[in-house]
Amino acid sequence: MTSEYEAMTRAAAAAIAYRRGVAEAETNPVADYAAMIAAFDAPVPEGPGDAQAIIAELIDKATPGIRACAAPRFFGWVIGNSHPTGVAADWLASAWGQNVGNLISAPAASAIEKVSADWLLDLLGLPRESSMGFVTGATVANFVCLAAARSEVLRRAGWDVEALGLFGAPPVEVVIGADAHATVYSGLKYLGLGAKRVKIVGSDASGRMLAGDFERVIKGCSGPVIAISQAGQINTGACDPFAEIAPIAKDAGAWLHVDGAFGLWAQVAPDRAHLTRGVEAADSWATDGHKWLQTPYDCGFAIVRDAEAHRRAMAISASYLPLGAETEREPSAYVPELSRRARGFATWAMLKQLGRAGLAEMVERHCQIARHMGERLADEPGIALVAPVELNQFMVRFGGSGAEGDRATLATVKRVQEDAIAFIGGALWRDDWVMRVSVSSIATTMAEADVAVDAVLDAWRKVRG
Ligand SMILES: Cc1ncc(COP(=O)(O)O)c(C=O)c1O
Repeated sequence: MTSEYEAMTRAAAAAIAYRRGVAEAETNPVADYAAMIAAFDAPVPEGPGDAQAIIAELIDKATPGIRACAAPRFFGWVIGNSHPTGVAADWLASAWGQNVGNLISAPAASAIEKVSADWLLDLLGLPRESSMGFVTGATVANFVCLAAARSEVLRRAGWDVEALGLFGAPPVEVVIGADAHATVYSGLKYLGLGAKRVKIVGSDASGRMLAGDFERVIKGCSGPVIAISQAGQINTGACDPFAEIAPIAKDAGAWLHVDGAFGLWAQVAPDRAHLTRGVEAADSWATDGHKWLQTPYDCGFAIVRDAEAHRRAMAISASYLPLGAETEREPSAYVPELSRRARGFATWAMLKQLGRAGLAEMVERHCQIARHMGERLADEPGIALVAPVELNQFMVRFGGSGAEGDRATLATVKRVQEDAIAFIGGALWRDDWVMRVSVSSIATTMAEADVAVDAVLDAWRKVRG
C-alpha cells in the first residue's frame, strides 16, 4: 500500500470517528476563524509533500474549527444532516474521479442522475416530463430555472435571448413576493433581469403571497412575465397559495417559478402536502438535496417542466463533446457548468436510505418537533411566537416590542450560542430581531428538541434576570 492509500484510510477513519461522536460534540467550534487562519497560514509549499502527513496535518489543524452542524441539536440556518450514507456515496464520487460533463465520460453517474431525477419527480409530485439539473444548491437551481423562464417568455415574444442577449429585447416583467429569499434576487442579477426591477406582491404576517395582490400586480404587467413564488419562507416556513396563484399566472401567460429550497419537501409528507397544494401547476421548481433530503453539501435540483427551454438556456456544445442530447439525457444540458461533481450518487443513496416512507416520517417529525418547541417556548412569560408554526421553521421574540425586545432577543440568542447546548441563530423579521429555529436534521428527535428548549428557557431566564 502506498502512502496515498494509507492517507485515504486515515481520512475515512477520522471521518467515521467524527460522525460517531458528533452527537456529543460541542455545538461551537473550539477555534474561531482567526485561529484557523493562524493554524493554516504558511508560505506556499515549495516541494511535494507526504500524503499521510498532509492528511494528518489537515485533521489536526481543522478539527478545532469544525462546527458540529450534523449534531442533533443544531437548529441554525436550514442545514440538514449530511447523512453518513450520503457521505459514503459522496466519498465514492470523489474516489471514482467522475466528471458528469457528459454521459460518455461518466456513464454510471449520468444514469444514476436520470434515475434519481425520475424518483424525485415522483416523490415531489411534479410533472414527469420535467427535466432536472443537479446543481450546487437552491441558489443555482433558482438561477437555472429563471434562465429557462427568461428563454421561454422571450421566445414566445419572438426573441432569441441565447443568441441576442437582452439588448433590444422586449422588457421582461418580474413579479415576486415581498418575503422572497435573497438568493432569488441573485439569480435575477446574474440574468440581467435586475434585482431592483421587480414588481412586489404583498404578503401576509407569515410571508405568504396574497393571491389577490398577485392578481392585481400580474394584471398590471404587459409583455413577457416571470412570477416568482416560494415553498418555505426562510423564517416562517410559509408556502405561497399555489392553487390560487398558478391559474392566475397561467391566464396571464406568465411563467411561474417556485423557490422550494426546503418547503417543496412538504409534498412527501401526506399530512403536510396541503401546504403546497397546487405547486405542481408551476413551470419550474428549485430545491435542495442538502437540506431535507439530508445529502452532504453541495446538492440541489433545478426542475423545469419545459425541458426544451431548460436545454436552450443551459446546453453547451463543442465538437469534442459527445452528442448524446438528442436521444439520451445529457447531464450537462441542464446545469451552468460543464465539469462538475457526480451529485447523483449521494442523491440516489439518500433516496434509497429513506425511501418514500422514511422521507414522509422525517418531514412530519420535523414539523411536529417545530410546533412542540414553539408551543413550549411561547408558554414562558416574555417569549412570543412571531407567526404560527406550519412547517419546520419558526421564530420567537423575547422581551416584548421595540428596542428593549431587540436587546433581549439578541442577548438570548448570544447566550444560547455561548452555552453551546444547542445552536440557534437570529434574524431580522419586519425590522424586529428574532430567534429563528430550523428543524431540518434527521438526527433531531423530540427528546433532543426538549433539551434545546430547556437551554433556551434557561438562557432567557438569565437574560431577563
Ligand atoms: C427559500 C430558500 N431559497 C434559497 C436558498 C438558498 O439555498 P442554497 O443555500 O442551498 O443555495 C435557501 C437557503 O436556505 C432557502 O431557504
